Amino acid sequence: MSETPALFSTDLYMPAYQPGTYGDWELQVMPFASGIGYWRSDKGYFIQNAAILSHRGDAPKTWMSTTPLEIESSEWGVRPARGHTVIMGFGMGWTAVAAACREDVDRVTVIEINPQVPALFEQTLPPEHRPAEWEKVRVIMADAREWKPDTPVDFMFADTWPVMGQAENLAETRKMQANVQAEELYYWGQELDLVETAIAQGWNPADGSRLSDEAVHAARAALDLPLFLPAPAGLLAEGAWREWCRRMPQWHEQQQDGTESGS
Ligand SMILES: C[S@@+](CC[C@H](N)C(=O)[O-])C[C@H]1O[C@@H](n2cnc3c(N)ncnc32)[C@H](O)[C@@H]1O
Repeated sequence: MSETPALFSTDLYMPAYQPGTYGDWELQVMPFASGIGYWRSDKGYFIQNAAILSHRGDAPKTWMSTTPLEIESSEWGVRPARGHTVIMGFGMGWTAVAAACREDVDRVTVIEINPQVPALFEQTLPPEHRPAEWEKVRVIMADAREWKPDTPVDFMFADTWPVMGQAENLAETRKMQANVQAEELYYWGQELDLVETAIAQGWNPADGSRLSDEAVHAARAALDLPLFLPAPAGLLAEGAWREWCRRMPQWHEQQQDGTESGS
């Protein structure tokens, strides 16, 4: 990190999670922490009051959090939410709450496969700590890859995976969209697939050229999904991709191997 980290802030609604130990789970609210974001590789962030959900046990580990990486990589699954919005994967529930708080949203349908997850939310964000807009939210226990809506869906955010940039994320998003037929959608880490597609289409990240908006639009056309593209599309997608390659060099190598072997 070459510059002093900035203090992270967001205009999206952030729930006031209640710290505590809930069965096998522990939710901590960190008064002050630092971490990287999703969009930029030049500097990280300081953040106040990030919520960290960990599984207790032999190898306690962070399961989910509201750190800058999580917030930035999900924010465009929330900002364009409108009308009937579907969220695939409940997690800590912040994208569901934040989407419900968007002015243009009439209702939010959340699809979740693990019954422990909404039960945990009842404890970490009990009803008295939720905004009034929570009444727009309905949680359905189902497999996101199989679920079909009974009314049209205006916007979908797909986020059911533990790691971004994996081949199954795009494949499963395709399955979800085949059933849901959302007018527009965003899926977690989609910038990584868009940039890899742009590379396959001829952009060379090593020749000093910047990824253009047009190249990202062409990549979206090739993926053949009605993806919402945050603007400026080229700058944001390239920043996310470069940050991920820097952080996960083995992921970058795998992508290159895949390209070379033609898969
Ligand atoms: C990364 S979390 C989602 C984070 C969430 N956006 C938030 O606001 O905290 C992924 C969630 O997807 C759920 N999930 C995983 N596979 C699923 C599937 N096939 N169908 C529905 N939910 C699934 C997991 O149980 C988990 O709750």
